Amino acid sequence: MIRSALMNVMTAAAIKAGRGLKRDFGEVENLQVSVKGPGDFVTSADKRAEKVLFEELSKARPGYGFVMEEGGTIEGSDKTHRWLIDPLDGTLNFLHGLPMFAISIALEREGQIVAGLIYNPVNDDMYVAEKGQGAWQNNHRLRVAARRDFADALVGCGVGPLARAKDHPRFKSELSSVLARAANIRRLGAASLDLAHVAAGRLDAYWERGLNSWDIGAGIILVREAGGFVSDGEGGEDMLESGSICVGNEIMHRNLLALLRKSAVESASGANKSPA
Ligand code: IPD
Ligand code: CA
Ligand code: CA
Repeated sequence: MIRSALMNVMTAAAIKAGRGLKRDFGEVENLQVSVKGPGDFVTSADKRAEKVLFEELSKARPGYGFVMEEGGTIEGSDKTHRWLIDPLDGTLNFLHGLPMFAISIALEREGQIVAGLIYNPVNDDMYVAEKGQGAWQNNHRLRVAARRDFADALVGCGVGPLARAKDHPRFKSELSSVLARAANIRRLGAASLDLAHVAAGRLDAYWERGLNSWDIGAGIILVREAGGFVSDGEGGEDMLESGSICVGNEIMHRNLLALLRKSAVESASGANKSPA
């Protein structure tokens, strides 16, 4: 695994915040059966984790800026560095007692992501990548899957809740295009871990829209350092701004992107509309 000073800082912060999340996750499992449910408790669990990450990273790298899901954007005195942080990615999984959630931390230097970490405290899976240093899960090096035939591909995806229902028609059309060609799809519920699974070769490809920079910052460098291809949903480089992402090995990425484009053309022409 990468043992740079920077990575030591990032892993130490994640382990500390993860300890609290793991404890809170145990509590959530008990709260499932209570009438009130674990909703409010989870909201405070992710705020607590974010506070730990903010304090630890500020102490170790004073002056760096922050973009955090809960706390928003905090300008730093050092304008060249910025952390992108999701203290709990996969909140709905966490809330339902599903152990698939993670802390996601990325570091931007002059607008480029140079380091990423994704950590699931339940099983201690620590994924890290630094520019030029490869991608790692704990002590082993990651490579994207080598599959070449899209018909064999297991493809990850994601879709927003009812509050983002305007995105659903496009998702449905993309989903039906992908389902018609791939082995099958998975919707696992934490964008950071979806990207980690692609880096580790478990998923062959993944796409999603409507995400934020803190969901995908770390995963982008992890997939690239594992030899994968990353673009936004249109094939450009605008993942962090647009919130859309499409990843895979070179062939899977090309195939998936082509399907997304084809489904955009078909939806625009009405070809995919279901009868009223
Ligand atoms: C969510 C997860 C989910 C994705 C959502 C994200 P959160 O993050 O990554 O997989 O589909 O769009 O917002 O809310 O659990 O931090
Ligand atoms: Ca998230
Ligand atoms: Ca979150």
